[in-house]
Amino acid sequence: MSNLNVGIIGTGIFATDTHLPTINKLSNVTPTACFNRTKAKAEVFATKANIPAESVYDSLDSIFEAKDIDFIDALLPVQYNLDAVKLAIKNNKPMVMEKPIAANMDQAREIVKLSRESSLPIGVLENWSFRSAIKILKNEILPQIGDVVSFTYSSTGPFNDDNKYINTSWRVNPEHIGGYLSDGGVHQLALLTDVLGEVSTVSALTKQLRKESGDVDVLFSTMKLDDGAIGTFTYGSAFGATEKSLKFTIFGTNGSAIYDFSPSLSKPTITYQTGASGQTSSGPKVIEVDEIDTFVAEFENFAAAVVSGNKDDVVVKPEHAFHHLAIVAAALESADKDGANVKVEKI
Ligand SMILES: NC(=O)c1ccc[n+]([C@@H]2O[C@H](COP(=O)([O-])OP(=O)(O)OC[C@H]3O[C@@H](n4cnc5c(N)ncnc54)[C@H](OP(=O)(O)O)[C@@H]3O)[C@@H](O)[C@H]2O)c1
Repeated sequence: MSNLNVGIIGTGIFATDTHLPTINKLSNVTPTACFNRTKAKAEVFATKANIPAESVYDSLDSIFEAKDIDFIDALLPVQYNLDAVKLAIKNNKPMVMEKPIAANMDQAREIVKLSRESSLPIGVLENWSFRSAIKILKNEILPQIGDVVSFTYSSTGPFNDDNKYINTSWRVNPEHIGGYLSDGGVHQLALLTDVLGEVSTVSALTKQLRKESGDVDVLFSTMKLDDGAIGTFTYGSAFGATEKSLKFTIFGTNGSAIYDFSPSLSKPTITYQTGASGQTSSGPKVIEVDEIDTFVAEFENFAAAVVSGNKDDVVVKPEHAFHHLAIVAAALESADKDGANVKVEKI
């Protein structure tokens, strides 16, 4: 595959700690330019990334206009994703952006519209969609457990005083809906919906436990999927001392599966059993999941789409990511109405 030059915009914590090491693992992508609102930070990043000083740009416009950059990697506070998408399309520059797709549904709708009208590869970096467990659950387990009728999805954990992201100003005063509920929640919802399909309606209650969250930070909900399955979705990492627990249970007419990817486990597991009743159970079988580096996988996917020039090769397209934010938006609206049932916007 030919070499691709990437320009990185927003050289903050995640660009430095995760995107740069990830890009450095790819054989065909080289960081060659960057931009940050505070230029001094971009200069430090450039040194770490071996980007020449003359390729540290002074403005968003100028980095998008640069001819020798094959695609842009955007890690901005997400309320600026729409501006970046507009510049990408104006300059015919493929772009991936960090999740959630946007700060609110108006911006998300506009991003989907613009990307649909353009032939450019545009992607959202929802790396959880690349988890190996999704393929195992969909291809190996679901066909064995009959029709999916119900699920419980629970991601709960303690508040972390030493969370490195907690003092970033755009998280302290979030413009993105639901603060951490959309920031991290879209990852959980990508996994849930990639396995089971889209959500139709939501009834939710929320709470704010920590002033540091800047918004509500705990969500308890019931959901109905498009295919009629019903379930619960619980999300929050703002509790007092507790073991971090990530567990997704799927109930079918002929069995069930539990995907447990709690960090305390040495490896994530899928435990499943088949049979139409307790008496006819196959007994539990356990699969240990060998997870891949989902950050590498998402960049490899986008790089391949840039090379092919085919936007359909992008796995997490804007409309896909739109659904995850739309579920959060519906849950927040429901919580504002004391748990009323709210339809999830479709696009
Ligand atoms: N996929 C994941 O697991 C994951 C994990 C963490 C973060 N993320 C995503 O990565 C992105 C960056 O997060 P982060 O934790 O790295 O935050 P961060 O450290 O605050 O970085 C954000 C960067 O954007 C810049 N910025 C702020 N306002 C701007 C503006 N108006 N115009 C242009 N640039 C501006 C900041 O520049 P200054 O230096 O001037 O403040 C900063 O360098 C977010 O979209 C976040 O959702 C994803």
